[in-house]
Amino acid sequence: MQKKILVTGGTGYIGSHTVVELIKEGFEVVVIDNLSNSKVEVLDKIEKITGTKPVFYQFDLCDFERLEACFKKEGNISSIIHFAASKAVGESVEKPLLYYRNNLQSLVNLLELMRKYHVPDIVFSSSCTVYGQPDKLPVTESTPYQIAESPYGNTKQIGEEILKDTCKAHSEIKSIALRYFNPVGAHESALIGELPLGTPNNLVPFITQTAAGIREQLSVFGSDYNTPDGTAVRDYIHVVDLAKAHVISVKRLLENLNKSNFEFFNIGTGNGYSVLQTIQTFERVNGVKVNYKLVDRRPGDIEQIFADTSFANKELGWKAEKGLEEMMSSAWKWQQTVK
Ligand code: UD1
Repeated sequence: MQKKILVTGGTGYIGSHTVVELIKEGFEVVVIDNLSNSKVEVLDKIEKITGTKPVFYQFDLCDFERLEACFKKEGNISSIIHFAASKAVGESVEKPLLYYRNNLQSLVNLLELMRKYHVPDIVFSSSCTVYGQPDKLPVTESTPYQIAESPYGNTKQIGEEILKDTCKAHSEIKSIALRYFNPVGAHESALIGELPLGTPNNLVPFITQTAAGIREQLSVFGSDYNTPDGTAVRDYIHVVDLAKAHVISVKRLLENLNKSNFEFFNIGTGNGYSVLQTIQTFERVNGVKVNYKLVDRRPGDIEQIFADTSFANKELGWKAEKGLEEMMSSAWKWQQTVK
């Protein structure tokens, strides 16, 4: 029988790519999304790619009653992938309570209902932000947490703690937290991709919008970092590789292959690229120019981070397959379809 996976935030950027991979692997998918940062048309795009339109509920996960009604109606949910969350670092500094409520109350609601309705597994969207600026690179899963730079980062740390405590107290619940590095790129069909609302905060959407003439100029935040070219270094990962890591994690939990009830993995490529290298790769593979200027550092940014992915490679049998060139070409192909 087809296993049913509940995907929260399933119309969002990473969520939609994961829904595609789940359907391709034969799972039945139910999506919950409040559409606060995504469009309902994404479901049609998913259908175009896979031939299947997932069942969809539009509501906020903080609404316990609606969520419970969904658990009741859907019945036999095998596993949950929980993407739904707010993710703008700057906004979280201005609206901390919104972030704590959105990102944490939703998680607690899900966990309570998982217990009540006997749903055993949850895969959680964590972030490399839990490491802050680490002393030693690359970061492994045993690199300690740093004090979070923002309420957003704090919600990821606390989210992991909530899962760890819950899995310890209630052994019927198992969880995998995936610590994403910087997800970029789009599906090869160019039917789904990142759809930032308003001015993008993240680098790659800003690059593509500048190349498309929607933004006049890209500001490169900081050129005096202690890195080879002075700009900050990140581990960019193709969103389809990231999506596949979720499918593997779901299967690991379903098949009870996990080594403990709460596991966490770095999901990156292991390669660090600077902001300038990223822009130059984009220009080279797409044959377009990006108008940029070097400006001051952005407050709260770290200098550099990239992953040691050997634990995920070994334990999950997962490895990123797509390089920076494919990330940049797919991001541009997608941008050109966005009206
Ligand atoms: C941050 C968080 C990450 C979170 C993500 C979501 C950290 C380490 N990472 O990623 O957990 O999921 O936000 O929003 O806290 N840049 C420019 N010009 C721009 C935009 C960005 O130069 O217009 C630079 C940034 O200064 C940074 C790099 O590009 O050096 C990547 O920035 P961005 O895409 O915003 O991601 P992070 O800040 O790394």
